[in-house]
Amino acid sequence: MKGIILAGGTGTRLLPLTSVLTKQLLPAYDRPMIFYPLNTLIQAGIRDILIIVSPEYSGSFLNLLGSMFRGHGVNITFVVQKRPGGLPEAFILGEDFLDGGPSTLILGDNIFEDDFSEAIGSFVSGGRVFAKEVTDPERFGVVEFDEATGKVISIEEKPSAPKSNFAIPGIYLYDGKASEIAKRIKPSERGELEIVDMHRAYLALGELDVRTITGAYFDAGTHDSLLEASVYVKEKDFRSRFHPIVNEAITEFNAEFKRLVSLKK
Ligand code: TTP
Repeated sequence: MKGIILAGGTGTRLLPLTSVLTKQLLPAYDRPMIFYPLNTLIQAGIRDILIIVSPEYSGSFLNLLGSMFRGHGVNITFVVQKRPGGLPEAFILGEDFLDGGPSTLILGDNIFEDDFSEAIGSFVSGGRVFAKEVTDPERFGVVEFDEATGKVISIEEKPSAPKSNFAIPGIYLYDGKASEIAKRIKPSERGELEIVDMHRAYLALGELDVRTITGAYFDAGTHDSLLEASVYVKEKDFRSRFHPIVNEAITEFNAEFKRLVSLKK
């Protein structure tokens, strides 16, 4: 199982912050936001990770993460997305990287408290998405499913009359068919490929399952949710709950940075 982090996009809801720094490098408390989805993948045992970035900030991502995990058994590669064409483009841009195998796609601005090790480790084929109970489902893709069997009944994007309170958060597991399916999706009215169409394609094949998650979840793409996420990760001490590989890599990176600074003096 490989991992993909989507860290491009425009981040218009976080302007003017995102006019000078890409959203996924803004801090969620004490570390750039991207470390949270990165940790989610590493915690679940994924060691081969593709990060999709926008052209403007590719250098910043490379400087931070290009060699941070060298010696830690985590292989990080980058692909530049020239313009934000929608989430399913991850499977098109990542086709060579995936090489026909399964992957977990996670959004670079999504912060999860849950540990996905079991859900990812037990994945065999088809598609697997997650459902998180929220109070404002109309802001999300909403899934209606049979809670006993886990079978999905319907999926609607930002419905005005949601059929359930279960939102689909930004972590998706798909098998090796994902790239071919993504290539067949037609852009929506806003000119982007929509992730809901990936879910629907797997649903039509009868291969989509859904699991509920109960831990805190933040889509840190707005000022309020970013602040809320920052306070939460500080209070719950996410830092000490990060996988040791991530914490060690950050500690080494900081020490090396300080060493280089001292050499310049
Ligand atoms: P969004 O939050 O939906 O989009 P955005 O980041 O452009 O923000 P805004 O709506 O405020 O303008 O994107 C979710 C995540 O996916 C985020 O980490 C950016 C990333 N993304 C890409 O990498 N490529 C894309 O084509 C899109 C649409 C999003």
